[in-house]
Amino acid sequence: MGRLDGKVALVTGGGSGLGRAIAVRYVAEGARVLVTDVNLAGCEETLAAMPESFRSRAVARRVDVSREPEVEAAVADAVERWGGLDVMVANAGIGAPGFLADLPLEDWQRVLDVNLTGVFLCARHAVRAMRERDRGGSIVVMSSVAGLHGAAMLGAYGPTKAAVLQLVQTLALEGAPSRIRANALCPVWTESPMVDAFVQGLGMTREQGEKVLTRDIPLRRLGKPDDVAWAAVYLGSDESTFVTGVALPIDGGHMAGRLP
Ligand SMILES: NC(=O)c1ccc[n+]([C@@H]2O[C@H](COP(=O)([O-])OP(=O)(O)OC[C@H]3O[C@@H](n4cnc5c(N)ncnc54)[C@H](O)[C@@H]3O)[C@@H](O)[C@H]2O)c1
Repeated sequence: MGRLDGKVALVTGGGSGLGRAIAVRYVAEGARVLVTDVNLAGCEETLAAMPESFRSRAVARRVDVSREPEVEAAVADAVERWGGLDVMVANAGIGAPGFLADLPLEDWQRVLDVNLTGVFLCARHAVRAMRERDRGGSIVVMSSVAGLHGAAMLGAYGPTKAAVLQLVQTLALEGAPSRIRANALCPVWTESPMVDAFVQGLGMTREQGEKVLTRDIPLRRLGKPDDVAWAAVYLGSDESTFVTGVALPIDGGHMAGRLP
């Protein structure tokens, strides 16, 4: 028995990092998953990372979350293929590291388009499909601890991650009459290509980067993609049917306070 048996899920940004881990876990827990990303080859790699016996429950599709017709068509694809949508994992996100004073306006705009407008578009088309079917549903939004406090050099990224937290609260209120839940995950630094690129951009080796990034993590390690994927399984499953409107840190104690 899988924890997501019978569920249909759509995962955005499923071609890499956390989205890949979530898609793999979801399929292993019994879900049928539309694995989407702007990078279709990445989605195919995600399917290849699934045990062969589960792979028939996953389909790869190219979707840019900042383009509404693509999001709408992807939700329609899941509904037509499998009869409805139970879980939307709005995970796709990008960063544009740099100090606010130096950040090109185009970079700021692109981060907003993907991280905020993209989540809005995924949520609204998911809600429409879930309402139509009238069997409730779960929207899982990937925020960050950078949405819970300021973060130097993440000047475009942090505000989008804070904004989606309020989007989630609003979705929770508006979705409640239809038993549509919305929750956010707030990971701290977690092993992924995004973090590798950030560390490289600082001119550090992986080891140096890990030392710096774990300074404010009491459990003294980076997150692992599966730390986040397990939380996404919980929020997508019926184990969490009374949980809505929350922001769950997955952060090794980072939000608990300062170390001496
Ligand atoms: N890794 C971390 O430390 C960390 C911490 C907190 C939050 N997050 C969040 O987790 C999510 C996944 O990040 P990751 O670390 O796996 O990064 P990643 O770069 O490995 O994966 C992000 C994926 O999103 C895809 N993507 C980018 N723009 C897109 C678009 N317009 N439409 C669809 N897909 C698009 C990329 O192609 C990539 O496959 C992001 O929202 C990120 O902000 C990551």
